[in-house]
Order: sequence, then structure tokens, then C-alpha cells
Amino acid sequence: MERKKLQKIRTIGGDIFVFEGHRIDFQIRRVYFTKNVPEGETRGHHAHKNLEQVLLCPHGAIQVTLDDGKGKPETVTLKDPEEAIYVGPGTWHKMKWLEKGSVLLVLASKEYDEDDYIRDYGDFIRFREERDKLLESRE
Ligand code: TYD
Repeated sequence: MERKKLQKIRTIGGDIFVFEGHRIDFQIRRVYFTKNVPEGETRGHHAHKNLEQVLLCPHGAIQVTLDDGKGKPETVTLKDPEEAIYVGPGTWHKMKWLEKGSVLLVLASKEYDEDDYIRDYGDFIRFREERDKLLESRE
């Protein structure tokens, strides 16, 4: 799991959290956030073919599970606004809202494209197998 850290600037009357582009290898092309999600709800359940993302939780607590299809999914709870995680292409991900009012902020490398989604777990496993074979053949 590739963790990222935001810069925290304490000021009189409030804190500022900063994530600058040099902390990632992709250009941010889209920013969106998800809120008004009931406590206990799990979203995601998909992977992307090409999209790169950084996930942050500026408010609340969200449990994120990343699965590379090799049988050992990793879970992290984003509850500190300074914490972020990178989600690369070919990573099955789920996000569980642990607290009402939690906000998930996403920095993404591309504009929205439904064709980039893999929404079926079996398709995801086949995608990973093909991708891994291709990468091995290049080595
Ligand atoms: P999805 O990415 O599956 O949400 P989550 O990962 O939170 O489960 O998107 C849910 C729906 O919203 C889906 O129908 C596509 C649509 N959507 C857009 O139209 N534009 C966007 O930028 C995003 C992220 C989703």
C-alpha cells in the first residue's frame, strides 16, 4: 500500500492541509468528493484499467480495502486528514463509511470514463492475469 502524507499547516483559527503535485507521478485531471453516504455503507467494488487516484478523508473515517487479485487484500482506515493513499490501475477497491458525515476526496489522473471501469470481480482477475503475463513477457 502506497501511503501519502499531506502537509499540515497550523494557523490561528484553523489548520490547512496541502497536497502538492510533486508528491505523485501523475497530473491531476479531476477532483471529486463523495459525501452524504450512510454509516456502514460500502462503495467502490471496482478497479480501473488506467486511472490513477489518490484517496483522502478530510472529515470522518473511511476504511479502504485494496486488492491486487493475489489473495491478500490490504485495509487501511483513513481518519486523519494528513493521510492519503495511492490507488493504481488494476486495483480492486472498496471504501466503507465508518462514520456518518465522512467525506472521501479523490484526486484522479483522468476525466470520467465508464469504459475504464472493471465492475465484475471475475473480469478483474482475468485483467490482472493478462496484465501480469504482459509485464513478465517484457522483462
Ligand atoms: P463510482 O465511481 O462507481 O462510485 P464509487 O466508487 O463511490 O462507488 O460511480 C458511481 C456512479 O457515478 C456511476 O454511475 C458513475 C457516476 N460517476 C460519474 O458520472 N462521474 C464521476 O466522476 C464519478 C466518480 C462517478
